[in-house]
Amino acid sequence: MKKHSPLKIAFGAIFFMSICFCLYNFEAIGTSLKLSRTKHIESLDFNTTLTTTTNLSSKKPAVASKTGKQPAPTIDPKDLDVEQIEADFPMGYKNPRSWFLPLPAPDEKQLLQVLTTEQRELLPSLGSQAQLSKKKLEKINSFYGINREGGWQDHLEILDDDGLAPLTKWAQKYVYDHQHPTSCEGKKFYILEEKARWYGLGAAVRVIFRELELAISVGRILVLDPKNPPGGNLVGKDCGKYRGRNASIECLLEDITSCAAYATPENSVREISLGTVIPGGNKFVPPLPAVALTTYMKETGLAVTGAFLRYWWHAQMYAYVFRPNRQTLARMVEMRTNKTLHTAVDTGVRDEDGNGKTHSVPFPLPPSTLSIHIRHGDKAIEGRLISTRDYIVAAERFVLRNPISYRKRAFVTTEDPSVIKDIKKTTGINPVGTAYSNPSWYCPFQNLRMSENRTDAMIMHIMQLWMAVECDAFVGNRNSNWNKLIDSIRCTLMDKCRAPYLDAGYSADWLHFP
Ligand SMILES: *[C@@H]1O[C@H](CO)[C@@H](O)[C@H](O)[C@H]1NC(C)=O
Ligand SMILES: *[C@@H]1O[C@H](CO)[C@@H](O)[C@H](O)[C@H]1NC(C)=O
Ligand SMILES: *[C@@H]1O[C@H](CO)[C@@H](O)[C@H](O)[C@H]1NC(C)=O
Ligand SMILES: *[C@@H]1O[C@H](CO)[C@@H](O)[C@H](O)[C@H]1NC(C)=O
Ligand SMILES: *[C@@H]1O[C@H](CO)[C@@H](O)[C@H](O)[C@H]1NC(C)=O
Repeated sequence: MKKHSPLKIAFGAIFFMSICFCLYNFEAIGTSLKLSRTKHIESLDFNTTLTTTTNLSSKKPAVASKTGKQPAPTIDPKDLDVEQIEADFPMGYKNPRSWFLPLPAPDEKQLLQVLTTEQRELLPSLGSQAQLSKKKLEKINSFYGINREGGWQDHLEILDDDGLAPLTKWAQKYVYDHQHPTSCEGKKFYILEEKARWYGLGAAVRVIFRELELAISVGRILVLDPKNPPGGNLVGKDCGKYRGRNASIECLLEDITSCAAYATPENSVREISLGTVIPGGNKFVPPLPAVALTTYMKETGLAVTGAFLRYWWHAQMYAYVFRPNRQTLARMVEMRTNKTLHTAVDTGVRDEDGNGKTHSVPFPLPPSTLSIHIRHGDKAIEGRLISTRDYIVAAERFVLRNPISYRKRAFVTTEDPSVIKDIKKTTGINPVGTAYSNPSWYCPFQNLRMSENRTDAMIMHIMQLWMAVECDAFVGNRNSNWNKLIDSIRCTLMDKCRAPYLDAGYSADWLHFP
């Protein structure tokens, strides 16, 4: 374990996540968690003070107002979070100008009456434009392996370079070709055995690619030890059986090399010391990719920092290692398209217990859905824990600032079941998020009971990450392997790298994490 800091151990312990696809509607925010949407809209007359109540954090000042008859609450700015002060209308603020009053939503029924038949006939085709474009749909299908002929290399070809991390197609081919040479004869190998059985999937992938980058640096092909392969503990014992192998991470993911059968004690090592790293480079990035990115950046007129080089390269490495194989993709599609596994919650319409109304979840997720990955659990020992509230505030601020393209609709994943409970009861936090968007968050979620079958449970986990990448904006805290994975995969195996990523946490907590 010399090469990995003790922090890594905790880093690996991601297990299962609950998912919540919130169709968060932002509009007005109820004064009570139990307020139904209808009631809520009724209360939206011009003299109503919009207020919010949320139980997510004790930091929140208590605010309440039901009707316009009550005076606006007085709030001491000291009690507000930065986000709330920054919000364009701090709670209780009233702009006296008449144009500042909330506008009523259009009354479709009344308006339809004034349209001609011809005009009404236009509507269905206009409505259908809310769907994902054909091109985007094809990419998402291919991302899941649906209707895809070739492998991951073929998938990459259909992606737009613009939306990918720099040099992704080249970098992926470079690593792939290193691990899949035209001939395996005469090659040298580095055999990696399982060293940390307690690691979760994200950390296991990370451990493998840290060794892979070393192997590439010294010109060896990385092979997983067939007797004690990494990731065997993550999956069922029978997982490798279908191809006559021991259980390993390779029963979920593509084989890391096509040359495994050529590794012998004579042409292999089982340890590579960090001391072998080339002077001038850094210990993470092999020489060619390091110079390749430097050259690319020079063309943009900007310099490469060591941290950026490493982050970029690690995104490439996550992508190379984390390619689900055919069997896994097929099972992921089964799960993704199984309607009974997914439910969406409209947090604006509540039942007696304060839970939102449920809906079905489409495949793919509708355009402009946000992915929110909330990492709690053991993260506290590695960096500051970010509250659920902070993630939602980050998302709401973004939606409020991008009113044309984004709405309060989110796909929330977390390993902390209490987060999902909170989310289902949260219509919104920022009282003014309501001006442009829907009133409350709308979230799809899966009631994923941990499967008895470890392999299946792990595949479900991967499917959740794929669903996150179906989204068009990302909220997370990169002080977590799984968030880094989401960030990497969206930039490499999908072309969503220019989609916004909102970090709800502190950059200092992840910036220099190796
Ligand atoms: C709002 O309150 C003011 C003063 O109480 C009243 O004059 C006005 O008619 C009210 N507006 C609405 C839309 O109820
Ligand atoms: C939410 O907050 C209200 C008022 O502070 C409190 O009465 C209620 O018990 C809280 N609910 C939960 C689920 O914490
Ligand atoms: C699986 O592991 C066992 C024990 O480590 C080993 O004896 C066996 O050869 C391995 N099977 C294969 C197919 O490599
Ligand atoms: C969908 O999932 C449910 C719950 O796991 C399962 O019982 C059902 O067989 C699945 N349906 C299909 C078509 O796979
Ligand atoms: C566990 O799930 C995997 C993947 O869906 C499947 O191939 C395997 O047959 C299952 N194993 C058992 C014992 O049900």
